[in-house]
Amino acid sequence: SLVTISELLTRAEAGGYAVGAFNCNNMEIVQAIISAAEVERSPVIIQASQGAIKYAGLGYITSLVREAALFSEVPVALHLDHGTDFQQVVNCLRSGFTSVMFDGSHLPLEENIKMTRKVVEVAHAAGIAVEGELGRLRGIEDEISVSERDAFFTDPQEAVTFVQETGIDALAPSIGTAHGRYRGKPELDFERLHRIRELTGVPLVLHGSSGVPGEDIRRAIELGVRKVNIDTDIRQAFVEEIRRVLASDPDQIDPRKVLGPARTRATEVIREKIRLFGSNGKA
Ligand code: G3H
Ligand code: 13P
Ligand code: ZN
Ligand code: NA
Repeated sequence: SLVTISELLTRAEAGGYAVGAFNCNNMEIVQAIISAAEVERSPVIIQASQGAIKYAGLGYITSLVREAALFSEVPVALHLDHGTDFQQVVNCLRSGFTSVMFDGSHLPLEENIKMTRKVVEVAHAAGIAVEGELGRLRGIEDEISVSERDAFFTDPQEAVTFVQETGIDALAPSIGTAHGRYRGKPELDFERLHRIRELTGVPLVLHGSSGVPGEDIRRAIELGVRKVNIDTDIRQAFVEEIRRVLASDPDQIDPRKVLGPARTRATEVIREKIRLFGSNGKA
């Protein structure tokens, strides 16, 4: 069934695990996410970025996830990932999303607070929780020196102000992860994560989690991360499988014979993530 993210995060908080938030762009990936969650008996968050909505269309995304959730035995939330446009958030709420993120991390603090609070007002009126972001996620290209960290990473005191003044339900801090593939090994600032969690008390969200070593993900969950975002690892598995199938069978012209194995491969990757996050058996 389709549920609000609050229900999932409350249970994750009590159980000390995290719920996977997996990005989708098409039917096969929605199906892979739902199959993986069902086999693992896990709650799950299916999320769509603005890029995904632009690619597939808001109606298609909502319909695909509704269909998946309707016949599913596990609780499913549909989340807007990195919303930056107020009207887009409203459209998602109207369309049936059960969770939204407003990403004002590129804005000055006061502006981020103002915009995020506006989103919280409309979302809460509809009974929907909001994820906010404070601090800049580094690009995979950027090497950040220790002295530069304070400029990019989330300041714990600012996080308190941000959470209190916006009323957000979950916070995505910047602690050293990046979207996409890492060049080397990411260096996460666990001390900062710990302080942010202690001071704010809200469930934390880890972005850019593809490519982060399993032990680091585990440690972040121990410190209060309750939602872990995964996109790149799914994309990579999906497309690598397409490449493998086409290389071994270059004359293949049936999309089902190409996308079917890719869907199966994506399901396997998502199952592994669910077990890493500890949400298996929780639905
Ligand atoms: O936050 C980034 C997500 O991986 C979504 O990426 O904007 O290419 O859909 P995208
Ligand atoms: P990755 O692509 O690194 O998994 O990041 C996903 C993400 O944070 C989506 O919001
Ligand atoms: Zn992200
Ligand atoms: Na990443």
